[in-house]
Amino acid sequence: MSVLRGKNILLGISGGIAAYKTATLVRHFIKAGAHVKVVVTPASKDFITPLTLSTLSKNPVFSSFYNEEDENAVWNNHVELGLWADLFVIAPATANTMSKMVTGNSDNLLIATYLSAKCPVYVAPAMDLDMYRHPSTKDSFDKLEAFGNIIIPAESGELASGLYGEGRMAEPENIVSFIEKHLEGQLPLRGKKILVTAGPTYEPIDPVRFIGNHSSGKMGYDIALAAADAGAEVILVSGPTHLRVSHEQIQLVKVTSSAEMYTACHTYFDGVDVAVAAAAVADYRPKHVAAQKIKKNEAHLTLELEKTTDILASLGEKKKGQFLIGFALETENEVENAKAKIRKKNLDLIVLNSLNDEGAGFGKPTNKVTFINSRFEEEPMALKSKEAVAQDIVNKIKEHYNV
Ligand code: CTP
Repeated sequence: MSVLRGKNILLGISGGIAAYKTATLVRHFIKAGAHVKVVVTPASKDFITPLTLSTLSKNPVFSSFYNEEDENAVWNNHVELGLWADLFVIAPATANTMSKMVTGNSDNLLIATYLSAKCPVYVAPAMDLDMYRHPSTKDSFDKLEAFGNIIIPAESGELASGLYGEGRMAEPENIVSFIEKHLEGQLPLRGKKILVTAGPTYEPIDPVRFIGNHSSGKMGYDIALAAADAGAEVILVSGPTHLRVSHEQIQLVKVTSSAEMYTACHTYFDGVDVAVAAAAVADYRPKHVAAQKIKKNEAHLTLELEKTTDILASLGEKKKGQFLIGFALETENEVENAKAKIRKKNLDLIVLNSLNDEGAGFGKPTNKVTFINSRFEEEPMALKSKEAVAQDIVNKIKEHYNV
């Protein structure tokens, strides 16, 4: 999954022959899951049509401060466009556009938008060999970098002039991978390993029956995704669920029973920095598992249950510097019970769900939690989607690492 997924990318196109390649660039951004809007300079329209770009980006293309053909047209607000963008990619950036970016000469919408944008700006230069080598171009590069822009180096090859050398705009797929790598390098949890447990456990009674619970696994899967999106390497130990996950930073370890979850957690725990126990592990399991299917011969059947091992508590006992997060689902004396669990299980943070809160708990898309840390400081949160709660939990991990 690309780091560009869900990002708002504003593509600025200036007037060079390489502009014809931006159709492919827009396609790559869309394929990576980004939302794309395009702003073009007047000169670029000689090389690529706004119709092509708006069809591919599924958005209108912005080219002037107002729409000349529509008398009811509204002002194209460069400030809004600049604020909409998570990333501004100027490709191709001609020598002319780069020099205007340096001096702030905003005589077109692209430059005005550039001056208004608060997001990272990537610049993919494209020009002929001698222009590329000219001291004033070099000066533009230096100044643009000094302003905080990121230059995507031009490539070498045959140029439109017939000359051979440096100056060709980086190929669209190389622009995409350059930006992806750059963003990945800045992800706050990059280099961290996080173990997450999720879902229910099934405790066997006989070969066909089990004791389970209604946990959907969603909370744990959302935490895994949010942590992976923040750059962490995630080991997701999941009980049986219908959920699917596909993220190159997430390793899914499927388990069924609490005993299997215990073994999986202890296999990985020593090598992780953080563990989040979001699974609804069965508290009891049948003491004896029947080897054959139990027949309904008797009027009554009594199952003897024994306690499962508390996986989280066992991790708490073993931890050596790992940041350990547990959940508590309480119906009474919520805060007191949660604080007791912090102590008992040696946790750094507990995420308390109160079943008394409407919208919180099993099978619901939302959750309302209170964070309590090891200093017993309480932080009640608003009712939110489970995705947003997952993000809050990941933010707590970031706070722990001051990132
Ligand atoms: N947990 C675990 N292994 C168990 C039971 C629970 O890892 N065998 C973890 C859960 O993933 C969760 C936390 O411990 O993070 C829940 O704690 P638990 O003591 O089970 O509390 P509740 O289920 O909320 O309730 P109770 O107080 O009834 O035990």
